[in-house]
Formats: sequence, structure tokens, C-alpha cells
Amino acid sequence: MTQDILLGQTLSFDGDPFGDTGWEAVTKHRRHGAVLVEDGVIRMVDERDAVLSATPTARRHDYGRDLISAGFVDAHMHYPQTAIIASWGKQLIDWLNTYTFPEESRFADSGYAQEIAERTLRLATQHGTTSLVSFCTIHPESVDAFFNAAAELEMEVFAGKTCMDRNAPDALRDTAKSAYDDSKRLLEKWHGKGRAHYAITPRFSPTSTPEQLAAVGALWSEHPDCLMQTHLSEQIPELAWVKELFPESRDYLDTYERFGLLGPKGLYGHAIYLEEREIARLKEMDASVVHCPTSNTFIGSGLFDLQGLKQHGLRVGLATDTGGGSSFSMLRTMAAAYEIGQLRGVALHPAQLIWLATEGSARAVHRQGHIGHLGVGAAADLVILDLESTEAIAQRTSRAESFWDALFPTIMMGDDRAVRAVWINGRALS
Ligand code: GUN
Ligand code: ZN
Repeated sequence: MTQDILLGQTLSFDGDPFGDTGWEAVTKHRRHGAVLVEDGVIRMVDERDAVLSATPTARRHDYGRDLISAGFVDAHMHYPQTAIIASWGKQLIDWLNTYTFPEESRFADSGYAQEIAERTLRLATQHGTTSLVSFCTIHPESVDAFFNAAAELEMEVFAGKTCMDRNAPDALRDTAKSAYDDSKRLLEKWHGKGRAHYAITPRFSPTSTPEQLAAVGALWSEHPDCLMQTHLSEQIPELAWVKELFPESRDYLDTYERFGLLGPKGLYGHAIYLEEREIARLKEMDASVVHCPTSNTFIGSGLFDLQGLKQHGLRVGLATDTGGGSSFSMLRTMAAAYEIGQLRGVALHPAQLIWLATEGSARAVHRQGHIGHLGVGAAADLVILDLESTEAIAQRTSRAESFWDALFPTIMMGDDRAVRAVWINGRALS
């Protein structure tokens, strides 16, 4: 048994800062705090002196004035799109056809899949992300590559084979049967192995036939403890396409619902243009939506109604949506969420932004208290942030009148240079 004490400022939450009590009631900041880590788990979070006197022999790691937070949880991304991030000039459907599908075709090569999986996790962790929920490609090899790379780092991850049997190039189409069979085999191989969670993954209703949606819906009904991830209501031309392909459906969500793809562990990326019925059904089923703000601006999708959906009581996670999103950084992602909030007339508090990137995403994947949480019993997945990482940030922070005032410039202007250290499963990454 090894014990490590991390010393620094600490930030933890014991409730939802979007709730009625307000952010102050559920947020705990310690200027001289400490975190005790043992066997990969957080055992104590308290004042520095209290932790030091309780465990005098533990190894010490003094991070000075840096901020110790739960590591970031990226609740929706596409690791196979890492190499095409920031591709110019297209909106969703053209962007998929021009950049995404040709790149995803390369993942039939397991060596390439492994290279990109390792690269993605290296980039994510460099940016302070300690858990991810990723789409893979239609190739089973791409799933093995991702889970193997995550296991090397002992990261808690969620991923699955992307299923598509229409409206995609020949090389990227499976069938209803092979989607079911391959997903089932991969689920049985990976789900619950170490820190891996399998997520059943139909890409979105335009690229699946009703037969395929029904097949993966059947698989989910056999494994309701798995997440099911997909896309929902992202862009206006996409909505028109969905209507055309599913004329009998009441709305976009219904294209999933009628095939058994609406449930408590459903994770729906984007969810920008929801109708009242869809919001009510998502709430009734306790399903989750994921806000992907850099993607929504980069590919021109629209302005997610975070405040409105939180007021309806939906689970909302935060995500990069790499490579439709334009950054690997959850700090940059929080900044984009803030900017979209402003365009909708809402100024999100820094406590709400950090909460979304940690606890909010963990709740969205039903792992609250286990990941994205700086509290006793949670996995010791941590990010240590330097709040003066660049001259531009430091000169603003030097004027700060409160902790939040000191943190906000790093949220708005920070990147991987702000990430002083990352701990995963109780070990510092080198
Ligand atoms: N909708 C279907 N596939 C995708 C994808 O890869 N990225 C985004 N942003 N939206 C999608
Ligand atoms: Zn996506």
C-alpha cells in the first residue's frame, strides 16, 4: 500500500451548482488543501494540516498554489477523427463525406488504429482529460485499439463500434446482423474489463436502416447496463434529412425511441433543436444529453440551450466532440460553453463550467461519485492546474479579487500549458 498526499488549492462539489441552492452552497474551495490517495482511490480531501497530521508518513507532492481538481471527463468524442481536427470549410453532412468518412476508412488497418488511439489519449491527458467517451469506427479492430491504449494508461473509458449500414461509403458499411454480432462480441470482450465500459454505438439515424436500429436496440435491451451513445438534433439540414428518411417518426428522438434506443443510459450528443416532446421523454427516461460547444460553433450547428435543459432536470455532460470540435482541451470547451451561454443571455459561473467538465459528464455516463469527483471513494483521476500558465493569464490573475476571479482566466484562455500534472488511477503520469 502506498499513500500519496497532493498539496495545493482544492476544488470539490457536493451537489449541482445549477440547482436551486445555487453554486455557492455546493462548492468547496480550499486555499491550503490536500488530497490523500491510496491504492488508486481518494481517501481524504481536507485542509492541508488535517491531512498531513492524519498520515505523517505518506509521500508528499507539493503543488504550491496550483489547483487540484477532479480530472476532466470528455463525454462525447471520436478518437478516429483526431488527425482531421480543424478541417476547413464544411458543415455537418459535407464535413462527414469530405473529411470524416475517408479518414475513418483507414481504421481497417489495426496498426493505424493503434497509432491514432495512442495519440488521442496522449493528447487528451496532456490537456487534463482523464476519462473519455469515444465513438470508434465500424471496424472491430478500432475498438480493440482504443480499449488497449486506455488500459495501458489505466484510464476509465467508454467506447463502442460505430454502426452504419446506409448513407456511408461501401468500405464503412456493416449490416444489421454484423452490427449486432460484432457489437455483442466486443461488448462481451471489453465491458467491465479493468476500467473499460462498452457503449453500444449507432452513429445517428441517417446512417442506419430501421433494421439496424432495431438490431442494436435489441442488443441494448439484453445489456441495459451499457451506455448507448449516438447523435441527436445537431444541425438544421440534418433534421430535414431525418424527416425524409423516417416519415412515420414523431420527431428525431422518435427515430431512436421506436427501435428501443431510448433508455436511462442513453447518451445523446448535441441535442440542439429539441422539441417539447423530446425534452419531456429524455427527462422521463433519465437519459443524458451532451453539450459539444466547440463543435457546434466550428461546424456551424447552433446554440445549445444549456440553461433550459438543466432547468428541465436533464443530465448534461460536456465534450470536445473531436474532430468536429476544434480542440482537445476541456478548458477551451468550457470557454466555448461560456461564449454560447453569453450569446443566449446567460453568464455561466466558473463553478458551473468546471462542474460540467467533471461531475456533469460523470453524471451523464452514470458514474457520479466514481469519476470526475474530488471526494472520498472516487478514483484518483486528477488534474493539477497552474492558474498563471502564460503571461497573458498571469497578468490578469494578479488582479484577481477572489478564487473564482483567479480561475476564470485559465478557463477562458488556458490550454495544455495550464496542465501541471495529471494523475490517473492514483499514479502521476510522467
Ligand atoms: N453526426 C453523425 N456523425 C457525426 C460525427 O462524426 N460528428 C458530429 N459532430 N456529428 C455527427
Ligand atoms: Zn459526435
